[in-house]
Parts: sequence; structure tokens; C-alpha cells
Amino acid sequence: MQFTRKDFPEDFLFGVATSSYQIEGHAFGGAGRTHWDDFAATPGNVVRAENGARACDHYHRFESDLDLVKAAGLDAYRFSTSWARVLPEGRGAVNQEGLDFYDRLTDAMLERGIKPCATLYHWELPSPLADLGGWRNRDVAHWFGDFTEVLMKRIGDRMYSVAPINEPWCVAWLSHFMGFHAPGLRDIRATARAMHHVLLAHGRAIEVMRGLGMKNLGGVFNMEWSTPADDTEDARHAAELYDGIYNRWFTGGVFKGEYPQIVLDGLEPHMPTNWQDDFGLITQKLDWCGLNYYTRKVIAPNTGPWPSLHEVEGPLPKTFMDWEIYPQGLSQFLIRLAKEYTGDIPLYVTESGMAAPDPLKDGGVDDQDRIAYLDDHLAEVRSAIASGAPVKGYFAWSLLDNYEWSLGYEKRFGLVHVDFDTLERTPKASYHALARALTE
Ligand code: NOJ
Repeated sequence: MQFTRKDFPEDFLFGVATSSYQIEGHAFGGAGRTHWDDFAATPGNVVRAENGARACDHYHRFESDLDLVKAAGLDAYRFSTSWARVLPEGRGAVNQEGLDFYDRLTDAMLERGIKPCATLYHWELPSPLADLGGWRNRDVAHWFGDFTEVLMKRIGDRMYSVAPINEPWCVAWLSHFMGFHAPGLRDIRATARAMHHVLLAHGRAIEVMRGLGMKNLGGVFNMEWSTPADDTEDARHAAELYDGIYNRWFTGGVFKGEYPQIVLDGLEPHMPTNWQDDFGLITQKLDWCGLNYYTRKVIAPNTGPWPSLHEVEGPLPKTFMDWEIYPQGLSQFLIRLAKEYTGDIPLYVTESGMAAPDPLKDGGVDDQDRIAYLDDHLAEVRSAIASGAPVKGYFAWSLLDNYEWSLGYEKRFGLVHVDFDTLERTPKASYHALARALTE
């Protein structure tokens, strides 16, 4: 790595991130069925129909996985909690084993001096709630609030930070408009409702946690820099609309109590009634804002129905996800967030990383490309700090190779390689490089 801790402010946190369904092994410990299990069981949705039933078996291996976090000299661990593990039916009866698991996981972090940074929802909605319409149903905000209360009454006293929902764009647009993630819908009415209800649920969870006296509550938003395919007005408009749908809708709702008009132009007829009245709940004050950043998209207009745009291939080098590597977008977003949305509150890069094939060779993985990726993105973080953005931490995605949703297990994002037959963990060169940078 081309940096050490000394290149960052003293209170800057380095961490790694994971999520429950992607690593735990959903079949273990009495968790209820989720819409991801259903989505993956439907032919054509997921590569090789893989699911998270076993994943990395973190459920049984969390102690040694956290040893890896500690040995790398990391300060914080961003993990998520599975709703269906705690409430198998989504509401009602509690699975004590599930609560016990998150309790032990929390203590295991604290015993190692690692700060627990929780995300309450990272995409696995309990199936019984999906049957009731899931994110289309306004009641989802109250169901989510109740789940938040049950879980946080047990572990909330020991969290360093909490965000209710990971990447609202994926929960809403990717899953209800593009159909790439569960529940796999392609329906504009469902999308408009999910785009709104996901923020309502965020606000309700914050309200519940404030009621429990909790502090350091935030939100985690994913962003993609949007570049017009050419310099025509149509292309610029398409890119601005993409930016509105992907980025500005969610931070606009949460931090300003408004949605971008350019997006409402298309979604308004499909919005739930009286949606404007919900901003009181949606704009609960936050203590920090998290940004998940991976890539940019090059956007062109088309003559199809709204939003009348599509992505075109860009010229930059790409990762194994086929995502262009565009580190500059990270500093551009951090500066824009602070200037236009979040003001003085701390910003965290809550995810950043790349997928590669990462074959094991002579007992190791020499992922120099990932080392360069992390270096280049951390350089952009330093440049954003130098420009005045209050960035307080960086979490690499991910600790372990894991279940990359519709793409199954072959897209490896980990600093630690996982053999999905034996479940053996092997730290990659990037893990060792980061550990050296942090402990030198
Ligand atoms: C963001 C998501 O939060 C995570 O679940 C996913 O694995 C990474 N991006 C990589 O696609």
C-alpha cells in the first residue's frame, strides 16, 4: 500500500464490511425463509441458482473470522443483521437463538477491541412479509420498526454505530424496476412505492432507536457517478436523470425532505397517496452518512418509455464485475455530499472494493490489482479530506469472498479467499498489505 495510518487523521477508522445473507449461512440457527431464498430458487434469477444457505458458514466461524479482522489491525467491523434470523416470520415470535447469535457476535467484536457497526437490513426480507407486498406495502415501515426494537433492545447498548438500511437504491430500483434482485419485479408502480417506503422504514427505525436512547445513527447510500455518453443535451439530461434516480433521490429525501423533480416527472403518477406528508419521519436527524462507492456509469438517451436511458460501455479498465474503475468519483461524491446534503456530519466510505477471479496459487492469492484499487480509492479519500470533506473512515468490501447475489460465488471481493468446498480461509496479498499499512 502507498499509505500508512499517519497519512490519515488520528480519529480515522479503518474497517471491513460484510452482510448477513452473504456470509452467515442462512440455513443455520433457525432463521426463517427470505425473499432471496425464493428468488434464487426461481430458475434464471441467479447464476447456477446459488443461494446463501451455507455461504461462508460465518455462523459457526465468526470467532476466527473476527480474529482475522483484529490481526489486520482494523478498528471497526461493519456487519448486518438478518431480520428473518431474529423474527422468522418477519413479525411476532422471536428466534432466541438468532438474538443470541448477534449478542455473541457483538461481544466477540468488543473482546477484540473492534467497533461494531451494524446495518439492520441488507436485503433478505422475510418471505411472509414479501407475501404481503414487501416494500410495496406501507406497513413495511412499522414491521421494520418493530424488528429494530426487538434487536436493538438486545444489542443496541453495545453498537458503535447503526444504519437501518443498506443501499436503498438496490432495495427499491434494482429489485422492483430492473428485476435483478429479489423480489425480481419490473413494475413502475411497485418501484415508486418501494422508493418511498424504503426511506419511510429508514426514518421509522431511526425514530425507534432514538426512543431507546441510542446514538451515532446514520444511513448507508450507494452512489455511481453518472457520465453523459456525449455532449448532446439529450445525453446530459439522461445522465442527470440517472444521477437523480440512483443518487439524489435517497439523500434528497433523507437530508432535504424532497425528491428530485427530474425523477418525480416519471414516478409521481405511481407514488402512494399523500407521500409528501411523510418527510417528517423520513428526515430524522442523522449523526453520520455512509457512502458505498464502486464505479461510474456512462449514460445515453433512448426512445423507450421513461426513463428513456441506458448504460453504454465506457473506455476505462474494468473489474471482474465489468465495472469501470473510476476512483475520482469517490472524492467527487464525498465533496458533493458534504456541500449539498450532509454539512458537517461525519462521512464514512462504508463500502469500497473490487471483484476479481482470484485463483489460489501456491497457497496464496496475489491480488495486486486489488491493492492498486484500494490505494487509488484511499488516495481519493485523502484528497476529499484535503478539500474539507469530513471523512472519518473507510470500510473495504469485503472481509471474505462471499455470495455476490445474482452472480453467485464466483465474483470474489474478499481480502480473504474462501474455498467454497472446504470453507478454508486464506488471506490474500491485499489483506497482508493492508495489515502492514495499518500496523507499521
Ligand atoms: C454493495 C452491496 O452492499 C454488497 O452486498 C455487494 O456484495 C457489493 N456492493 C458488491 O457488489
